[in-house]
Amino acid sequence: MASGSGDEGEGGVSWRLVGPAAVLSGKRCRLLHSSLGRDADVCLFYVKGEFFAMDARCAHSGGPLCEGDIEEADGVLQVFCPWHDYDFDLRTGKSGTSLQQKVYEVKLEEGNVYVKHGSRLSLQPFPADQKR
Ligand code: FES
Repeated sequence: MASGSGDEGEGGVSWRLVGPAAVLSGKRCRLLHSSLGRDADVCLFYVKGEFFAMDARCAHSGGPLCEGDIEEADGVLQVFCPWHDYDFDLRTGKSGTSLQQKVYEVKLEEGNVYVKHGSRLSLQPFPADQKR
């Protein structure tokens, strides 16, 4: 069973195929479900022609960052948590509040988007998620 801790048993951290860039770039943010459970879900942002991946639940109190506003200041793209408005740098996950959101590498290969992550990622919930 997914315990939400550690990433063993999932093959460790590796590049996870998410889907075609042409489809994924059609929305500003997609929620990627993790096979480790909802605490490990990932936001895949598409902003200004670039993909960014970070933990979907805010490091503060678990707010849904996929629903946050995105703003650019001095060339830095930030997402603002919809719950208490904390900012997180899309590239580094750093916040002006000193909290740190986990970010993940993203790569494009042959038109597909991959995210480097310790669990399987899917646009659809995993069966275990649906009971929650
Ligand atoms: S839960 Fe995100 S700022 Fe509080």
